[in-house]
Amino acid sequence: MHADIVVLPGDGIGPEVTAAAVDVLRAVARRYGHHFRFDEKLIGGAAIDATGTPLPADTLDAAQAADAILLGAVGGPKWSDPNAKVRPEQGLLAIRKALGLFANLRPVKPHVAGLGASPIKPHLLQGVDLVVVRELTGGIYFGRKQRSADSASDLCEYSVFEIERVVRHAAKLARSRSGRLTSVDKANVLETSRLWRDVTTRVIRDEFPDVTLEHQLVDSMAMHLIAKPRAYDVIVTENMFGDILTDEASMLAGSLGLLPSASLGEGRCGIYEPIHGSAPDIAGLGVANPYACILSAAMLLRHSLGLEGEATCVEQAVSRALDAGFLTADLAGEGQRAIGTRAATQAVIEQL
Ligand code: NAI
Ligand code: MG
Repeated sequence: MHADIVVLPGDGIGPEVTAAAVDVLRAVARRYGHHFRFDEKLIGGAAIDATGTPLPADTLDAAQAADAILLGAVGGPKWSDPNAKVRPEQGLLAIRKALGLFANLRPVKPHVAGLGASPIKPHLLQGVDLVVVRELTGGIYFGRKQRSADSASDLCEYSVFEIERVVRHAAKLARSRSGRLTSVDKANVLETSRLWRDVTTRVIRDEFPDVTLEHQLVDSMAMHLIAKPRAYDVIVTENMFGDILTDEASMLAGSLGLLPSASLGEGRCGIYEPIHGSAPDIAGLGVANPYACILSAAMLLRHSLGLEGEATCVEQAVSRALDAGFLTADLAGEGQRAIGTRAATQAVIEQL
């Protein structure tokens, strides 16, 4: 197949990990006879430096015409002045909103190589395989903000439409996996959460009778996620709860450098990016862990290009590279040899 993939390397280690993922996608294309065209564009701090804006029109145009978008990370100390008018993160929020990417999928499936690096006891992590579906374009992050000398407020608002579409997305995913869905809210206190719970209950009852729905309050969910992570499969929640729970869930896998993500909407095009940031402390050193970005490329193959076999092939190649001991510095334990970004990428390509 032919596919146009827009690559947004961004800042810090972004260019290093996206280059790794592109190398793997090229190897997949060779092996399976596909034609992937890669078009590199600016976003974040790199775009501010070159054009004065974190999301140039040229980048958004290319993204809107693409089959899929692969992104590294944005931001860094150079653009962190709190009084700055333009910030790299604005580019990320703007492109998600402009493309209507309302569902953020973050799978967490700890690999043995990460278990030693996780602060959680290994026996609790055996067999964990869950996906958090976070609502990405609504809620308190996008509500009206106000500030006066002695008070401030952020409005949290959700429409029935916004809840329905992300719940349907999560329910379809649950149906393709174990058939179990956990919806997280704070319905004992928040009106938006009571609406969330009502809509979720109705959508599942009327449209997904084969899916088993469980409701959890976000505070107890934070505890259960650590105490019994194996009990969960697909978790759906609103924007801020999802933001917090997914950072917590990332610790189940041991390293930020192992976790991919996909941001999806109604169409097939999505943004695929590792969940980590631009890691300015190690940028340019060639030691960044590329696996999270490579696993994001696997999600791209699956969700935007419909290439399930190729996606699984990449995931298995990463798993085998880890099994064979190809560990970057964030994963290598005492006495284990750490390899760099390129060697890890090469190991995956050989395993393909
Ligand atoms: P970070 O994720 O960049 O780094 C946290 C720690 O994890 C650092 O010690 C880093 O070296 C390490 N790390 C992260 N990814 C790694 C990888 N692939 N391999 C090996 N080690 C890795 O988070 P931090 O330091 O809070 O933020 C740095 C910058 O990134 C900030 O400007 C922040 O705003 C931005 N950021 C951007 C995100 C995005 O573009 N989606 C997400 C999170 C942060
Ligand atoms: Mg976050």
